[in-house]
Amino acid sequence: MSDIVLELKNVNKIFGQGDTKVQALDSVSFSVKRGEFLLIVGSSGSGKSTLLNMIGLLDRPTNGQVFIDEKNTTNLSDNKISEFRNSKLGFIFQFSNLLVDLTVLENVLLPRSIQKTDQNAQKEAIDLLKAVGLEKQMHKRANKVSGGQAQRAAIARGLINKPTIVLADEPTGNLDSVTAETIVQLMKSMAKKLNQTFVIVTHDRHQFGEVDRIITIKDGRAFEGEDVPPKMELTI
Ligand SMILES: Nc1ncnc2c1ncn2[C@@H]1O[C@H](COP(=O)(O)OP(=O)(O)OP(=O)(O)O)[C@@H](O)[C@H]1O
Ligand SMILES: [Mg+2]
Repeated sequence: MSDIVLELKNVNKIFGQGDTKVQALDSVSFSVKRGEFLLIVGSSGSGKSTLLNMIGLLDRPTNGQVFIDEKNTTNLSDNKISEFRNSKLGFIFQFSNLLVDLTVLENVLLPRSIQKTDQNAQKEAIDLLKAVGLEKQMHKRANKVSGGQAQRAAIARGLINKPTIVLADEPTGNLDSVTAETIVQLMKSMAKKLNQTFVIVTHDRHQFGEVDRIITIKDGRAFEGEDVPPKMELTI
């Protein structure tokens, strides 16, 4: 098992053409190690979500390559990409996106039933729900829990497939600052406990305190660290 779980090589993303052309990502190259807790920061419109969509295999680069677990995903068919995404990636969104007709436990189990790896799933889901502090809420319907509890459930759901990488776009963006703080601490402690790689987009870097690594996106270009140019640009 390699230590590198994610590698981007010269990833470009261009939206539109002619007058409406936008280069959302410009020669982005970097790699991420197993267990790394990485923040992606940058101003609005800089390209953070576009980058996360490339890593999450939700959209394809205009050119360049995305390797996950050493597998080049560039030439995979749409079907293969979905399969690969379900098995290798976990997602946490700004809004928990739980299905309100299902219980918290059923929501956490969903990625496993999609993947048809139900064996032992129930026990693993319950263990995760305990770990995120939802022992007493797991049989409630998803619309009967608080925003913070829903986001805890979303974290458990994001981890249930034992993904190579968990991706989160503004996971605390919809929470008050106290709840946000507990969600941040929870993600950090789960990352440590499981040696789980997290790649998190946030506009609130300070909420996260000390993290392994920060990448700043500015005008579609990636820079190591919190400060933008003239610091080191991440290209090859
Ligand atoms: N589907 C799309 N079609 C056209 N342009 C797009 C599309 N998605 C993003 N863009 C453009 O690409 C650039 C980067 O957008 P992106 O959503 O990645 O920014 P962001 O850093 O996530 O911003 P925010 O902090 O506001 O969420 C912006 O100029 C945006 O308008
Ligand atoms: Mg965004």
